[in-house]
Amino acid sequence: MKAPKENGFRCVVTGGCGFIGSNFISLFLAEYPLAKVLNLDSMTYAAHPQTARHLDSLAPERYQHVRGDIADPQLGELLSRFKPDAVVNFAAETHVDKSILDPSAFVQTNVAGVQNLLTLARKQGNVRFLQVSTDEVYGSLNPDDPTFTESSPLTPSSPYAAAKASGDLFALAAHHTFGQDVVITRCTNNFGPYQYPEKLIPLVIANALEDKPIPIYGDGQQVRDWLHVVDHCRAIALVLATGKSGEVYNVSASEEHANLNIVRGILERVGKPESLIRYVKDRPGHDRRYGLSAAKIRHTLGWSPKLSFEEGLDQTVEWYLQNSGWWRSLRDEAYAAYYQANYAPKVQEQEKPL
Ligand code: DAU
Repeated sequence: MKAPKENGFRCVVTGGCGFIGSNFISLFLAEYPLAKVLNLDSMTYAAHPQTARHLDSLAPERYQHVRGDIADPQLGELLSRFKPDAVVNFAAETHVDKSILDPSAFVQTNVAGVQNLLTLARKQGNVRFLQVSTDEVYGSLNPDDPTFTESSPLTPSSPYAAAKASGDLFALAAHHTFGQDVVITRCTNNFGPYQYPEKLIPLVIANALEDKPIPIYGDGQQVRDWLHVVDHCRAIALVLATGKSGEVYNVSASEEHANLNIVRGILERVGKPESLIRYVKDRPGHDRRYGLSAAKIRHTLGWSPKLSFEEGLDQTVEWYLQNSGWWRSLRDEAYAAYYQANYAPKVQEQEKPL
C-alpha cells in the first residue's frame, strides 16, 4: 500500500460523522497534509450535522462527505471513481442497550455491511482495509483475571458484541481466503469530544449539567478500561500506516475504573451533588469487567497514549460545557424532525472530484 504521507494517498473513511470517525478524520487530515479523504456516512441518529459541517471546514480541497450505507452493493461505483488506497471502517451500530432492544440493525451494519464493504474494497485491487473493532468481542473478565490479548478467544456477550465479533471474523476470513490486505484494531471504551450522549460519560455530563437523575446500572461496580478518543485515533492511523496485514492490534491505556467512580469524578468536576445518582435495574447480561493488554501495539508499532485519564476527562468535561448546543440539540426530540427536513437533502449533494 502507498504510505499515507505520500502525495495523493486516498482514504475512504466510513462512519466519519460519528464520534470516533470524526475525530479520526480531523487527526488524519492534519497529520497527512497530502492525503485525501472520502467520508461515507449514512447520517444515522448518532451523526450530527454540526459535526459534518465542522469536518467540511477543515480541508475542503482534500475532503468530501457522501451520504451512503456500507451495506449498499452499489457503493462499488463510488469506490471505482474514488480509487482508494485504504478503507477505514468506523461505520457501526455501537450502543449495547439498543442492541438488546433490537439486534437487527446491528446485524445489518456490523455484519452484512462489513462483509459488503470488504468485497467491494477487494474488487478495487490493492486496498488496505482497516476494521475498527472493540474489546467487547472478548467478553467479560472476572476481577482477578489477566487482561485480554489478541489471542484470547472471542466470547461476545451482547448482540452488539456478537455482531462486531462476526464482522471481525469476516475481515480475517477475507485475509486468509483471498489474501486481502486487512488489519483490525480492538479498542477499549473511548471518551472525548463529539460522543453521542447515550454513552456513560457524555450522558452523565449532560444529565448533571441539566440537574437530571443519573442512572447507574446495577451496583455501579462494573469496570471499563478507558481511552481518550484522540489516542485511539493515533493508534488507528499508526496501524493503517505500519500494521502487518492479517494482524489484530489491541488498543488500551490500561485505565480500568468502576462506573461509580467515573460518575463521581464527573459530578465533582461539574460541581453537582451525588444525590443526582439513581441506582436502576441492571443491563441484561451486563459484562462485569473489560481490560485489554496493548503490549503488542506498544512493542511492535511503538504506540503509547499521550493523555492521562484525568487530563482527558478534564478536557472532555470542558468540551461538553463549551459545546452544550451540540448535545442539547441531539437530546431534543424536535431536532429529529428539523434534521430530516433541513439536513438530509443537503448531504445528498453530488460527490465532487477530489
Ligand atoms: O468497550 C468498548 C465499547 O464501549 C464499545 O465497543 C461500544 O461501542 C461502546 O458503546 C462502549 O460499550 P459500553 O456498554 O461499555 O458503554 P456504555 O457507555 O453504554 O456503558 C459504560 C458502562 O456504564 C457500562 O458498564 C454500562 C454503564 N452505564 C451506562 C449508561 C449509558 C450505566 O451504569 N448507566 C448508563 O446510563
